[in-house]
Amino acid sequence: MNLAGKKALILGGTSGIGLASAVQLKALGVDVIAIGRSEANLKTAADAGLKTRQADVLDRAGLAALFQSLAPFDILICAATGGPRANGPFLKMDLDAYQASFQKLWGYTNAVHLGAPHLTADGAIVLVSGAPARKPRVGSIALTSVGGAVEAFAKGIAAELKPRRINVVSPGIVDTPMFAVSGDARRQFLQQATNNFHLPRPGIPDEIASAVVLAATNPFMTGSIIDVDGGWVSP
Ligand SMILES: NC(=O)c1ccc[n+]([C@@H]2O[C@H](COP(=O)([O-])OP(=O)(O)OC[C@H]3O[C@@H](n4cnc5c(N)ncnc54)[C@H](OP(=O)(O)O)[C@@H]3O)[C@@H](O)[C@H]2O)c1
Repeated sequence: MNLAGKKALILGGTSGIGLASAVQLKALGVDVIAIGRSEANLKTAADAGLKTRQADVLDRAGLAALFQSLAPFDILICAATGGPRANGPFLKMDLDAYQASFQKLWGYTNAVHLGAPHLTADGAIVLVSGAPARKPRVGSIALTSVGGAVEAFAKGIAAELKPRRINVVSPGIVDTPMFAVSGDARRQFLQQATNNFHLPRPGIPDEIASAVVLAATNPFMTGSIIDVDGGWVSP
C-alpha cells in the first residue's frame, strides 16, 4: 500500500498498542486519528502529536456519526479493550463478568459493521486479539473465548469484505496501561506472567505496533493472524 495521502482511524489509539501503532503510522506519513473515551488518554495522544476524536466503541450511534464525519478512510485499527475482562477459573467466575468480557468483541464488530462501508476499496482493517485465543492458560478462559471469537470473526468476514482486507495481530503479554498495577507488584506480575516463554519478558507496545502496521499495509495479506508473543503459542 502506498501510504502517501492515506488516512487511518485507530480505535483505542490513545494508549498502549493502539497509541504505538498510531505514532508509527503517522511517522510513515499517514493522516492518523486516535480515538478513545477518556480526556486523560486523549491528552496523552495529543501530546504525542496525534489528531484525536472522542468516542466509545460501544455507542453505535456515536461511532456511526464519527465514521461518517471522517469518511472515506483507508485503515481502520481496532485496539480498544472495550472494558475489563474476567480472570480466574470459569466455574468460580461471575457469569455477568464473563459475558461483559465480550465488550471487546462487540466494540470490534460495531467498528467493522459501521466502518467497512467507509473504507476505500484497497483499505484494510486490523483487529487485536491475544495469545490465549490459541494457547489457553488456567484462569484465562475469558481471554481465550473473546480472543478466539475475534480471530474466527476476522477469518469468517474476510471473503465478505474483499477486496478490502482484514487481519488480526495476536500479542502475548505487553507492558501497557491495561495492567493497572504499578511499582514492584507490576514488575513481579509481568515477570511471572512471561517467565515460561522463549523470550521471558513482556513485549513493549512498539513491538506489537510494527506488526499492526504490517497487517494494515501489506496488500497481499488478508484473513491472517500474526503472533507477536515472545513464543507464547510456540510448542
Ligand atoms: N497488553 C497486553 O498484554 C495485551 C495482550 C493481549 C491482547 N491485548 C489486547 O490489545 C488491545 C490493546 O490493549 P492495550 O494493552 O494497548 O490496552 P490499553 O493501554 O489499556 O489501551 C486501551 C485503549 O482502548 C481504549 N478504549 C477502551 N475501551 C474503549 C471504548 N469502550 N471505546 C473507545 N475506546 C476504548 C482506551 O482509551 P479509553 O479508556 O480512554 O477509552 C485506550 O486507548 C486490547 O484489545 C487488548 O485486549 C493486550
